[in-house]
Amino acid sequence: MHKSWNIIDADLGKLREAGQFKPIRNLLAPMGPVSKIEGVGEVVVLCSNDYLGLANHPEVVAASVEASKKWGAGTGSVRFICGTFDYHRALEEKIAALSATDASTTYVSCWCANEAAIATLMTIGADSVVAISDELNHASIIDAIRLGRQINKNAKSAIYKHSDMAGLEAALKEHAACKMKLVITDGVFSMEGDIAKLDVIHRLCEEHGAMLIVDDSHGVGVCGPTGRGVAEHYGLHGKIDCMTGTLGKALGGAAGGYVASHKNLIELMYQKSRPQIFSNGLPPGSAAASTKAIEILLRDTSRVAKLRENVNYMREGLKKLGFEAMSGPSAITPIILGPTAKAIAASKRLLELGVFVIGFGYPVVPEGAARLRVQISAAHERAHLDRALEAFKKL
Ligand SMILES: Cc1ncc(COP(=O)(O)O)c(C=O)c1O
Repeated sequence: MHKSWNIIDADLGKLREAGQFKPIRNLLAPMGPVSKIEGVGEVVVLCSNDYLGLANHPEVVAASVEASKKWGAGTGSVRFICGTFDYHRALEEKIAALSATDASTTYVSCWCANEAAIATLMTIGADSVVAISDELNHASIIDAIRLGRQINKNAKSAIYKHSDMAGLEAALKEHAACKMKLVITDGVFSMEGDIAKLDVIHRLCEEHGAMLIVDDSHGVGVCGPTGRGVAEHYGLHGKIDCMTGTLGKALGGAAGGYVASHKNLIELMYQKSRPQIFSNGLPPGSAAASTKAIEILLRDTSRVAKLRENVNYMREGLKKLGFEAMSGPSAITPIILGPTAKAIAASKRLLELGVFVIGFGYPVVPEGAARLRVQISAAHERAHLDRALEAFKKL
């Protein structure tokens, strides 16, 4: 046995000792407002990103099955070699309509979409590009910027404190000489549940000639009067240079990610973005599921309204029980408990009480700010939420 295996074992051992080892649960029923966990039984699910409850919508499932029957399991190659399929085009037209952009293109995940947009732009920016990023941006944005700097050694980056608009402005001024300035933010910050100050960020980008990239993975389908996302919440729908997002949360809960923007940026993605040039396109089943999910959202926004009612009900219930539950337009409510071990113990106890909610600790969130992350869906009925609140009361 060579030494690599010992190093792996030692590393896993350190995680266990530090109480940071994440148990992976085995689910025996589909994801929904309730599901079934092996060794636990039925639980109310408060940790899914299926915000609109479309993952199991009969029309979404039927579209996925039909597409698999018609087109087979997958693309068999990357798109620039074997071509784009009709179902890719149908999905990308829907994403562009939802995002109010000229065009869009898709990837097998939003991780890939962020890597594609950010690293490609940083690469073509030659020696005059800077990527400016909120410190709490998603890991895929952080890694995409790291990658961009590795590929283009002349590219610069700057990180501002979370939602610190003076910090963003200072970074824009410091890098005023850069021809290409990219400002990148999450729409909804996934661990805090708060939303980006997009009104100010958008204004600063206009003033300083910067391109704004918003990853609205947790905002699309959730925020704004008709669920178009955080940009719609601020009256900026269709005014953001480049949107990225996932198809694995509100938009069907399957898998996939997208970049939505002007035609030339999308053309650049086809020509140069490595996660598309060197990786297969979305399989038909996933693409068709998301196409249908977006179609449902475009024609009927009642799920967005129900989601908001559910979120408010849950937050008010938690507050009455003495928990500090933040208000805001997102579907994420973090409950800060402090030490990592406390958050993990609380989530374990809640699971015993029939509620599936995850405790996040260091290194996912800063040390001392470990939390339970409560996520609500339009698929929850009052009875599910009351069951969950009863468990929190016992906790
Ligand atoms: C803000 C944000 N961006 C990107 C992703 C990655 O999405 P995907 O699962 O499609 O790779 C996530 C998923 O957690 C996310 O929260």
